[in-house]
Amino acid sequence: MGWGVAIVGGTGVYDAGVVEEREERAVRTPYGEARVILGTYRGIRVGFLARHGPGHRVPPHRVNYRANIWALRELGLVRVLATAAVGSLNPDIKPGDFVLVDQFIDFTRRRESTFFDGGEAGVVHVDFTEPYCPELRAVLARAARELAIEAHEGGVYVCTEGPRFETPAEIRAFRLLGGDLVGMTNVPEVVLAREANLCYALVAMVTNFAAGISPTPLTHEEVLEVMAANAARIRSLLWRAVEMIPPERRCRCGQAVGPLAGG
Ligand code: HPA
Repeated sequence: MGWGVAIVGGTGVYDAGVVEEREERAVRTPYGEARVILGTYRGIRVGFLARHGPGHRVPPHRVNYRANIWALRELGLVRVLATAAVGSLNPDIKPGDFVLVDQFIDFTRRRESTFFDGGEAGVVHVDFTEPYCPELRAVLARAARELAIEAHEGGVYVCTEGPRFETPAEIRAFRLLGGDLVGMTNVPEVVLAREANLCYALVAMVTNFAAGISPTPLTHEEVLEVMAANAARIRSLLWRAVEMIPPERRCRCGQAVGPLAGG
C-alpha cells in the first residue's frame, strides 16, 4: 500500500482540495467509524479527514479522536498534517498568524485520551518529550518560507475541554503557565497519533486574541470568518508541505511504542 499523508482539517478547513482519484471511505475501527477522503496529489497518497465530521456537526469534546487516528493508521497515512483554529494569549502572535506548534498543556477533563487502556495492551507510558514530529514541522517551516507565508516556529498550545470559550482569569493563568495559544481539539489528537506511531504536526491558525485580551466577546462566527479569509493560504501551505515530505522517516515517531493491541 505504501506510505501516505493525512490532512486533518479543523474548523474552516473542510475540503480535500485538489486530490485526484478521489474516493470516500468509511473506515471501521474498534472505536466506531471514521470518514476519510482518499486520493493522490502529484503521485503521493493522501487522505483528508474533517475532524468535526461532515458539515462541522461534532463539537470538540465529542469528536471520536480514537476512531479518527486509528483509521489514518489503518490506511497507512503515517504522516499527519493537522490544522486547528486557536486563540492567542501571546501579544506577539496575532490573529491571522500561523503557528507550528511544538508543545502542549492539557486541560481537558473527560475525553478518551489513549489507546492504552489496560487489558491486553497492559500498562504503557509513552514519552512526550517531543509531542509533535520535528521532521514534519521543519518541512512546514520550509514550505512557509518558500511561499513567503509567515509562520511562528514553535508555540505552546493549551487544550481546554470546551465547548465554551475561556474566562479572562483562565487565560491569565494559562499565560503564567507558559501557554501561547488556546484551543479545544489538539488533545487527545496529538496524543493518539504518537501512541499509534504516526508523525503528527499541527498548523495552528490564530483567529482571535483570547478572552480578556480581545476587546470584544468571542464568537464562533468570528473564528469562522478569520478561517475563511485565510483558507487559501493554509491550503497552499499544506499542499506544498505534502510535496516536500521525504518518503523515509528520519524522526523517532515510528518507534514511539510497540504495535497496538489488535492493530
Ligand atoms: N479559545 C478556544 N478555542 C478557540 C479560540 C479561543 O479563543 N479561538 C479559536 N478556537
